This record gives sequence, structure tokens and C-alpha cells, in this order.
Amino acid sequence: MCLFVVVFCSLALTSAVNQTESDVDSWYVAAVYEHNLILNPEPDVPLSRLDALQHMQKNLDIYEEQAARAAQQGAQILVFPEDGLHGFNFSRSSISGYLETIPDPQQESWNPCTEPDKYNNTEVLHQLSCMARRNNLYLVANMADLQPCPLKTDPSSSCPSDGRWQFNTNVVFRSDGLLVARYHKHNLYFEQSFDTPPQPEIITFDTPFAGRFGLMICFDILFHKPTIALVEKGVRQLIFPTAWMNLLPLLDSVQFQQAFSLGANVTLLAANLRKDQYNMRGSGIYTPFSATYHHAQKGDPEEGRLLVARVPVLDPLWVGQSVTTEEGLVRSESTSSTATDSGVCHQESCSDSPPPETASLVPPSSATFISSIDHDPFTFVLLNETEGKVNVCNGTFCCHLQYRRLPQGDSKELYALGAFAGTHTMDGRYALQVCALVRCAGLDASSCGQEVEEAESKMDFLLEGKFGTRYVYPSVLASKMVLEQPEHLETAADGRVTMKHSNMIGSLVTACLYGRMYHLDNE
Ligand SMILES: *[C@@H]1O[C@H](CO)[C@@H](O)[C@H](O)[C@H]1NC(C)=O
Ligand SMILES: *[C@@H]1O[C@H](CO)[C@@H](O)[C@H](O)[C@H]1NC(C)=O
Ligand SMILES: *[C@@H]1O[C@H](CO)[C@@H](O)[C@H](O)[C@H]1NC(C)=O
Ligand SMILES: *[C@@H]1O[C@H](CO)[C@@H](O)[C@H](O)[C@H]1NC(C)=O
Ligand SMILES: *[C@@H]1O[C@H](CO)[C@@H](O)[C@H](O)[C@H]1NC(C)=O
Ligand SMILES: *[C@@H]1O[C@H](CO)[C@@H](O)[C@H](O)[C@H]1NC(C)=O
Repeated sequence: MCLFVVVFCSLALTSAVNQTESDVDSWYVAAVYEHNLILNPEPDVPLSRLDALQHMQKNLDIYEEQAARAAQQGAQILVFPEDGLHGFNFSRSSISGYLETIPDPQQESWNPCTEPDKYNNTEVLHQLSCMARRNNLYLVANMADLQPCPLKTDPSSSCPSDGRWQFNTNVVFRSDGLLVARYHKHNLYFEQSFDTPPQPEIITFDTPFAGRFGLMICFDILFHKPTIALVEKGVRQLIFPTAWMNLLPLLDSVQFQQAFSLGANVTLLAANLRKDQYNMRGSGIYTPFSATYHHAQKGDPEEGRLLVARVPVLDPLWVGQSVTTEEGLVRSESTSSTATDSGVCHQESCSDSPPPETASLVPPSSATFISSIDHDPFTFVLLNETEGKVNVCNGTFCCHLQYRRLPQGDSKELYALGAFAGTHTMDGRYALQVCALVRCAGLDASSCGQEVEEAESKMDFLLEGKFGTRYVYPSVLASKMVLEQPEHLETAADGRVTMKHSNMIGSLVTACLYGRMYHLDNE
């Protein structure tokens, strides 16, 4: 049986967020499977092809069962997680037995299920293709691809010294088993066994029931290519196999999955692994109005979970704001440090760039302190009253909060508002502007920003920042990994983003506006 946690947002958000579910006239049924991966216990030891196949078969057997269950529930598309067949921690050579050479579906048409003898050494492709065909659904899985190089399509590219590319790869099969898409992960995360493809690949495929889908993998979700390149092409449905290690308070799996769906105004089909030893859990099906997700709690049995949801087809003609707007923002952002129109905002007095009406009434919050969230030095101010207004800035980037705490019982919890503007450099490099309201892990200010999963206080709040990007990902994470749909979200033309939320169902762990400054990543 499946237990769904369903959060519906029935409130009309703003005039900017005006499409409600009732406007949708087309629906489909999507499924994602959170897979309790059976690992190879010795990934650094090379295996024969036969042994590698035997290992993968254990995971494929589970995929077979779940594909049948998904089909019984009407699923038209099913997504399996990253690394779900082979696992991780391989070296470049120890993964050899797991590799198959996946033909490029843009170059040739191949149905591995009906033409099994066309290529040798393609047992996994064959089985996945037949799984799609037998269950009559589109199927997305992640596997390891070997491409001899230099690639014919790109003879000038540098080829690894062993004469082959090894790629972390999504494959998509049509409901008759045809291989319709192949995507090579671009933003690797400590994956010694894999290469970065010579060019970022922007890969989509079309379905009869929901139109176009785009492909990405795990860490890709934080970067412009391929993710935002897909969104800017008007792709509104993104497929996201992942092996995501949760990182509170800002990057828990389901928290960021929902935030991305809301911030990019897309549907996200996210399938994570379940692997407690690596803190991997949390999958879901997200639309801009609803979330069907699963996030196991500590101590829950370590098992897989199939999620199935009816999903609206989003208007394929809607393509965000125009690109010129972003260039406008980029330009004003890059000049703001030198100058002029936005005024100067020091850490101690942030009266200018934040929201006019509200901010001008608020005295600058003086007692700021620095504390890190995932190694990024956030500037924080404590929320030391039951209600009030606070501002906090990091350089010229300021965050504003209006809040009213509703403590339960006599809980003494510490909350703080933090701002960060800068480049994250630990385990990957990406430029950010973040406003984060967090529950501190302890009663000491230095614990603000540390991981904490539970809280007792509810809060009504309005969180606002003026961002130099239109890619701001909003989240409200309540106690025990429960998501709440922000009651009201608004983005103004000047980059100001406002998130308002009240009448919380759960207690507040984090409320965040996570801005990605893609244009500054290479500076
Ligand atoms: C999201 O997309 C819908 C169209 O599907 C559009 O009507 C709505 O305004 C968009 N929301 C935002 C916040 O841009
Ligand atoms: C948004 O929806 C409301 C209620 O249906 C309607 O009154 C309003 O005109 C719509 N706004 C836009 C910009 O379409
Ligand atoms: C195995 O991979 C996980 C996830 O990528 C990583 O956290 C861990 O450090 C790796 N373990 C070893 C022994 O390399
Ligand atoms: C597959 O391998 C066999 C045995 O090595 C060989 O005879 C055959 O030509 C190969 N088939 C293809 C399509 O490469
Ligand atoms: C709350 O903090 C502010 C500084 O941010 C300080 O001026 C004020 O006295 C504090 N109030 C209480 C009740 O501690
Ligand atoms: C943000 O704060 C950190 C820590 O105080 C500081 O080093 C950094 O220069 C600030 N960023 C900006 C843009 O001022």
C-alpha cells in the first residue's frame, strides 16, 4: 500500500500565479519510485560482466515489480532514481563490468526489446525496454554508458587516455520499448567513475499524453546547464533521477524539489534513492500547485516507495519572463556594488534596497552575527520577540522579515533570519543570494544554521528579499520533513520576491528564498 502525503494549495496565489488546477484541461498519471538500492559491497573491486549483471539483476527485479504496480495504478510514465541499478563509489576501472554502450536515439531508432540482437552487451537496455513495453508506460532509468572516443560527432574533443567516455546516463523508453532519449549528466558530484560530457546536453522527449519532458540528474538541478536551459526553452516538465544526500536546513531533498518546482514554475518528477547510510531519502511529484511526496523519518524501515499522482499538463506556451528582463537584472546587479541608484546598504543599516513600505519603518537590526550554513557565512539576526520586523544584510543584499510566533506550550526555541550573498565553494561552486529563516539547532546563536529536523513553534510570516536573479526557489519546511505550500508568493519586476505564509499546519524548521545567480557562477 502507498501512503501519500498530499499538500494542495487551494488559495489563489497572486495575479502573477493565476493558473489554478481548474484551468487545466489535460492530465496524466506519473509515478516515481524511491528505490532501496542493493549495493555492491565492494565497489572498488572490478567485477566480471556476469557478476555485474547478477548484481544489477537484484535491482532490476525490484524495478520489474514496481513497474507492474505503477501500471496497475494507471501510470503513463515511471521514473527510477540515479545510480539505482549499479550504485556508487566505483573507480573508473572498477565500474567496467556495469557499462553498456547506449546508441544515440537522435541518430538511430532502436527498440532493444524487439531487436535484442542488434548490439551485444546490452542486457540492461533490453530488460528496461521490455519493462516499458510489457507495462505500456514510458520508463526513465539511470545507468552507466560507455562511448568509445573520440566521439564521431565531436572529433576535436579531448578523449580520456583510456580511449573511452564513461557517462552517468538517463535512458528513456517509449511505451512500446523504443529508446527515445539518452542524457549524459553534466554536473558530476565526486563521481570518479564518470566523465563530464564534452558539451552540455539539452535533451527532451515528447509524449502523446503530456507533450515535452526534459532530462537532468541530481546535482544538475543547481546549475544553468542543462536545467535552466531546458526551462528557458519552454520545457515545463522535468525528470529528475537523483541520489541526493540531505542537507538541512536549506537543501533537504523534498524541500528543494518543491522549491524548484515553485520557483521555475514547472512540474518535477523526482526519484531519489533510499539509502540511510548516505542520508539519501525523499522523492516526489511536484506541480506549481501540489506536491505528492515521501520523506522517510529516522528509524523508519529502509524500504522503497512508489508514488503515483495525477498531474496537470502545464501550458506549454508559457515561457517565464522574457530573457531581456534577466539581462536587465544582471546588468543592474553587476553595477550595484560600484554605485549609484540603489544606494549603499551596510550590514548595520539596510534602509535602502529592501522593500520600500515595510523596510523603511523598520529600524536596522543591530545585533548581527555570522554563522555558517553548509560552510557559507550567513549574516544572522535573532528573532527575540514574539512578533516584530527584522532586516539583515550581507553587503547590499538584504532580507526582511515580519513575523509573529505562536509557540506551543513553553517551548524555548531560537529562530534567526539569515542573509547570504556570495559564491558557495564547498563541494561545488555556485553563486547565491539567500534569505533564510531558520530554527536554530540549540539555544545558542552559534547553532543557527546547523541541521535540525524538528520544531515546536509555528509562525506567521512575510519573508522578502530583492534579488539580482529571477531564479528564486521558495520553500517552507515544517517539522519532521513536512512541506507546506507557501500561501502567497509574489515576484516584482525589480527582483523583489515576497513569500507570505500563515496558519501553519506544522511547526517551522526553515522558510527560505534561495536565489541562484547563475550569471555569476564563472566569476
Ligand atoms: C506559471 O505558469 C502558468 C502557466 O502554466 C502561468 O499562468 C503563471 O502565471 C506562472 N506563474 C508564475 C509565478 O510565473
Ligand atoms: C486571475 O484570476 C482571477 C480569478 O479568476 C481573475 O479575476 C483575474 O482577472 C485573473 N488575473 C489575471 C492576470 O489573469
Ligand atoms: C561513497 O559515496 C558516497 C555518496 O557519494 C560518499 O558520501 C561516500 O563518502 C563514498 N564513500 C567512499 C568510501 O568513498
Ligand atoms: C556479438 O558478439 C559475437 C561474439 O563475440 C559476435 O560474433 C557478433 O558479431 C557480435 N554482434 C554484434 C552485433 O556486434
Ligand atoms: C532583541 O534584539 C535587539 C537587537 O537585535 C535588541 O536591541 C533588543 O533589546 C532585544 N530584545 C530583547 C527582548 O531581548
Ligand atoms: C557577506 O558576508 C561575509 C561574511 O561577513 C563577507 O565576508 C562578505 O564580504 C559579504 N558579502 C558581501 C557581498 O558583502
